[in-house]
Amino acid sequence: MKAAILGTGSWASAFGRHLTHKWERVVLWGIEADQVNSINQTGTNPQFLGDTRLPPNLRATLDLDDCLKNADILFVVVPSQAVRSVIQKVAASTVFPDGAPVINMAKGFEVSSLKRISEVIEEELTAAGKSDQHSVGVLLGPSHAEEVALEQPTAVVLSGRTKTDWAHWQSWIAGPFFRVYTNDDIAGVEIASGFKNIIALAVGMADGLGAGDNTRGTLMTRGMLELSRLGKALGGRPETFFGLAGIGDMITTCISKHSRNRNFGEELTRGGRSPQEILDNAVQVVEGVHMAKAALKLSDKLGVELPITKQVHDVLFSEKPPRQAMRELMERELRPELD
Ligand SMILES: NC(=O)c1ccc[n+]([C@@H]2O[C@H](COP(=O)([O-])OP(=O)(O)OC[C@H]3O[C@@H](n4cnc5c(N)ncnc54)[C@H](O)[C@@H]3O)[C@@H](O)[C@H]2O)c1
Repeated sequence: MKAAILGTGSWASAFGRHLTHKWERVVLWGIEADQVNSINQTGTNPQFLGDTRLPPNLRATLDLDDCLKNADILFVVVPSQAVRSVIQKVAASTVFPDGAPVINMAKGFEVSSLKRISEVIEEELTAAGKSDQHSVGVLLGPSHAEEVALEQPTAVVLSGRTKTDWAHWQSWIAGPFFRVYTNDDIAGVEIASGFKNIIALAVGMADGLGAGDNTRGTLMTRGMLELSRLGKALGGRPETFFGLAGIGDMITTCISKHSRNRNFGEELTRGGRSPQEILDNAVQVVEGVHMAKAALKLSDKLGVELPITKQVHDVLFSEKPPRQAMRELMERELRPELD
């Protein structure tokens, strides 16, 4: 069995390492020669995973067809805004076997189209006349690459439409340290995973301003209500927001030292550098920044109120100081908790 993975970053490498326990061959495709060479020559990916060893049945390639040929399944682990262009290349490949499912693991929405990433993938497969040949799913949840690489117990959600036997793939993806649940609410799973990074940015800002646990708990809870309102308007099921891709990923992202979104929020409060300058120097993708843009557009389009998201957006794109954003959230009109 061969698993193909698009991406050679933190999550692609850590997840690929996990799969090597079960799959004979795991092949990562990347666009950066230094990452590909390092994985193949030293069995490490130091830029993203320090000195964690990657087993010999995992290799990387710059040649997309080399990655796709004879693959039984394809995992998409590049930043959300890069997925469309990458899937266009996959759809054009003549060697990608019919029947192989395509599983998205990027967290986010496409900002330009306001579509979920699985929708973007389906759209590109349809445009290439290949939508009948590949089921599209997602694998998302609280799963920091750094901890999966250390084989710390982790649980995620596999979701897709029912035409595929996802339970079959569930057992092929699960392992002793990596528990996989199924959930057929693909919209809810993607919306929850995509937008929780905005709340992580808010929690990071609060941390940077010296706020305490009351503030963190409040932002996470009110943030989750915000996300579930948006999720419902976009066709997700409210209960999914209480699952791994929802509250699970929200807690993990908002409290973790590994969370680049939380850390980015904290960095914004230090002053001296604009959000764009901090972003330009980030080694890893900070999905929450794109998502604040997408969520605000959706909020306007659907008439869903997203107060925390709006403040995060204004800090990122309208030069609003984080302290003022926090004060404006606290000074909003008083209201019932559930409305
Ligand atoms: N790191 C994690 O713990 C984690 C966990 C779950 C989900 N995710 C999600 O996985 C996705 C990837 O995150 P990551 O942490 O691996 O990011 P990363 O920044 O560590 O790596 C990104 C990878 O994508 C490649 N890439 C960037 N632009 C590309 C393009 N246009 N075409 C092809 N390849 C391109 C880079 O070369 C790099 O290999 C994100 O959506 C993230 O939210 C990450």
